[in-house]
Amino acid sequence: MTSLLYNEDALVGVRRIADASVDLVIADPPYGLGKDYGNDSDRLGAQEYLAWSERWLDAVAPKLTANGSLYVFLTWQHSPEVFSHIKTRFTMVNEIIWDRRVPSMGGSTRKFSSVHDNIGFFVKSRDYYFDVDAVRIPYDAETKKARSRSIFVGKKWLEVGYNPKDVWSVSRLHRQHAERADHPTQKPLEIVERMVLASCPPGGTVLDPFMGSGTSAVAAARHGRHFVGFELNPDYFAIVQSRVAAVATGQMRLALQEHETASVRLDRTGAAAFD
Ligand SMILES: C[S@@+](CC[C@H](N)C(=O)[O-])C[C@H]1O[C@@H](n2cnc3c(N)ncnc32)[C@H](O)[C@@H]1O
Repeated sequence: MTSLLYNEDALVGVRRIADASVDLVIADPPYGLGKDYGNDSDRLGAQEYLAWSERWLDAVAPKLTANGSLYVFLTWQHSPEVFSHIKTRFTMVNEIIWDRRVPSMGGSTRKFSSVHDNIGFFVKSRDYYFDVDAVRIPYDAETKKARSRSIFVGKKWLEVGYNPKDVWSVSRLHRQHAERADHPTQKPLEIVERMVLASCPPGGTVLDPFMGSGTSAVAAARHGRHFVGFELNPDYFAIVQSRVAAVATGQMRLALQEHETASVRLDRTGAAAFD
């Protein structure tokens, strides 16, 4: 599997990608909320932000195959207008709410605390790729037992698990979390892996114009998908490189171990020449 990583402005770099060559775009752009990414990318006013969002979408959209998909992370502040624009050229399949499971800590006294991201899931055509079996959630033993009445016996859905709903309740990454890299808005692998498994065929290609710490690159590498991505900040780019290298090293180690086990077993049966 290839991982093509570029320390470059996505709006420039995506021009080199062939049209209709990407199965899945995962875009987690600056949210237009003034976050510090070590550059000015998140310091646009509301109108400029919408114009910039339209520009990156126009650059990325032609790269998708006819049955490709696009997931866009945003927050409630700008998702209504950005999603409206995306709907002028894509079909919206879901709005997924990522409940970040933020613990209650007092919070604001003038409004309700905001604890979710809005993720738009869009497709180019009705014939989009979607592998629900790859992302089913197994029922726990208790639920299975509760469904043990005769009308449920042999029901396929009880055995294979259920289709994830559109509210994804996954904890944000705390500073101490094993997955955590030095990036202010790193997404949990669990979320991005679900997108990759459901919406990119094995051996297909994922494009992420705004890699940040490279969560999508890691998800693609772990699941046998090709990857191409861009990140402006050189420090974050270095994090992406080392996270992707760690996956590759892990996979190499695993392959070597398997190879070793195989050769030992073959040696014992006297078939060493097989190697
Ligand atoms: C919301 S973060 C992405 C976080 C990422 N999904 C993760 O899990 O780590 C957005 C990133 O886009 C980068 N960025 C902003 N404008 C960019 C551009 N024009 N081209 C490439 N990267 C850009 C920022 O530096 C920031 O790291």
